[in-house]
Amino acid sequence: MEEHQAIHDLYHAHHRDGWGSVAVDELEFFRSVIAAERPESFIEIGTASGLSGGFIARFLAANGGRRLVTLDAEEWFFGDRTKPTGFQIDPVKGDAAVEVQRFAGITLLGLPEDVTGFDMGFVDANHQHPWPLLDTLLLHPRMPSGGKVFHHDLKLYRDDGHFNSIGPKHCFDQFPDSRRYVSPARDGNSYWLDLAMPREELGRIGAAGLLIPWTLMEPLEDAQIEDAAAQLGRHYGPALRDTFLTAAQRFNWIRISRPKRAIDKLKRRLRRE
Ligand SMILES: C[S@@+](CC[C@H](N)C(=O)[O-])C[C@H]1O[C@@H](n2cnc3c(N)ncnc32)[C@H](O)[C@@H]1O
Repeated sequence: MEEHQAIHDLYHAHHRDGWGSVAVDELEFFRSVIAAERPESFIEIGTASGLSGGFIARFLAANGGRRLVTLDAEEWFFGDRTKPTGFQIDPVKGDAAVEVQRFAGITLLGLPEDVTGFDMGFVDANHQHPWPLLDTLLLHPRMPSGGKVFHHDLKLYRDDGHFNSIGPKHCFDQFPDSRRYVSPARDGNSYWLDLAMPREELGRIGAAGLLIPWTLMEPLEDAQIEDAAAQLGRHYGPALRDTFLTAAQRFNWIRISRPKRAIDKLKRRLRRE
């Protein structure tokens, strides 16, 4: 059933421009890895419309998988505020026999601790640094055997107006070649990280990445900083917790101001005309 043409047709029946979804060839990439590794339990961070989640559910069902957890910071879908986040999961999933658990209005920081035991994941949420790295660090404790975590939008920062979205690139850059793979899909926009590594090794990767200046457009809230620090401390030890707090102190409030961004954009447009 999940042949290329079937995926293509189902995708185009649901896809809308501007809804931030993965592309068909990126779905093919996910499918090939799921078919090879046969994860039983999968977590997606960044549900949005639910297009990717619906397909992941199908791929899991076709390869012995049983459970998909998907979460999103928003209750209502950003592309159409009349629709709840994840509204496309069921129509795309069809009758795939996979249990889907949805969480809306929370980040990974707020996901209950007993929602755990994943073999594979997909991070496609806030692309501003340090979110993709933070999501990766906080997924590891919920993945008992490590496993692969996909990331999306490796190239988004290069596109006009999206330079804050360098998070997936900073995250990717911290991992050794032996632990990362960029798919040729969508010209190298998706990759996986292999998290089957000792906690100490990932902690060192995390420390290096967290100290790269953050590119947040909205600062982390005090409660989010507290939660992240507590979770990093619990899972990786006090040194990584303190590194995170140092980085938060340095970078949580730096950003390129919106007025400056708007002026720069206007200048670029005038130069082009
Ligand atoms: C690019 S969209 C995801 C697209 C979806 N994976 C697909 O391919 O159909 C990003 C989503 O992440 C959500 N989001 C943003 N920041 C988040 C965070 N820190 N944690 C969880 N979700 C977040 C947004 O509300 C948005 O719905």
